[in-house]
Amino acid sequence: MSYKDQIIKDRIPEHVAIIMDGNGRWAKQHGLQRMFGHQQGVKTVHEITTVAAELGIRFLTLYAFSTENWNRPKEEVDALMALLVDTIKKETPTLMKNNVRLLTIGDLSRLPSATREKFEQCLADTAGNTGLNLVLALSYSSRWELTRAFQQVAENAKKGMLKPDEITEQAVAQYLTTATMPDPDLLIRTSGEYRISNFLLWQLAYAELYFTDCLWPDFTVEHFYEAIVDYQHRERRFGKISEQVKEGNRL
Ligand code: FPP
Repeated sequence: MSYKDQIIKDRIPEHVAIIMDGNGRWAKQHGLQRMFGHQQGVKTVHEITTVAAELGIRFLTLYAFSTENWNRPKEEVDALMALLVDTIKKETPTLMKNNVRLLTIGDLSRLPSATREKFEQCLADTAGNTGLNLVLALSYSSRWELTRAFQQVAENAKKGMLKPDEITEQAVAQYLTTATMPDPDLLIRTSGEYRISNFLLWQLAYAELYFTDCLWPDFTVEHFYEAIVDYQHRERRFGKISEQVKEGNRL
């Protein structure tokens, strides 16, 4: 039976986050420049976004460009920015057709103005779509996000708008870039690396982690279904014991 046929329709994760890794190694394996790997990676983004929408996943968050990626050689950064603009331009009609809403998290002020403007246009164009929320993490890192949140909390406390006992977990979450989103249920990382790499550190507290050796450009729809099936067979206990979780499921 294919992995697609094994998917339990009423246990689809609400939010899937992906660290898309291995584009450079894929290019090297094929004797190509690194950018060919990123271009091939865009095709995978297209396919996975399409099936995520079909499955009824509500949020798909993709780590497209980290704060640390600014330290890559300038030619690669420039080429990645150009690829992002080109992809957004080409993909906006598909997002509209599939009722996908684009959202971004990260420090967009660091993006070149042409890139930022293209994203802002696509955010506005897709704002009314009600299907999948496709969240691109751009110039994003968790430590950047948490530092910014602490600064805002301190500012509000200084102004007398926030008392120490009002800084609850729920309140902290409201200061993050993901304030309007549920936490990820499942994190997928490709390319055989077992790291979180400064991605959604607060939000992944109870996510199920799924690692695969497959490089991102080789990651197919069937690999994605496999990850979903694997997730569906995990027992999520959120700190409780197994019997409590089973009891809860019967209620
Ligand atoms: C990691 O591979 C990938 C990136 C840093 C960029 C991801 C970007 C894309 C897939 C293209 C654009 C995406 C969208 C959403 C339009 P790597 O370069 O670190 O690979 P390596 O570890 O093998 O060198």
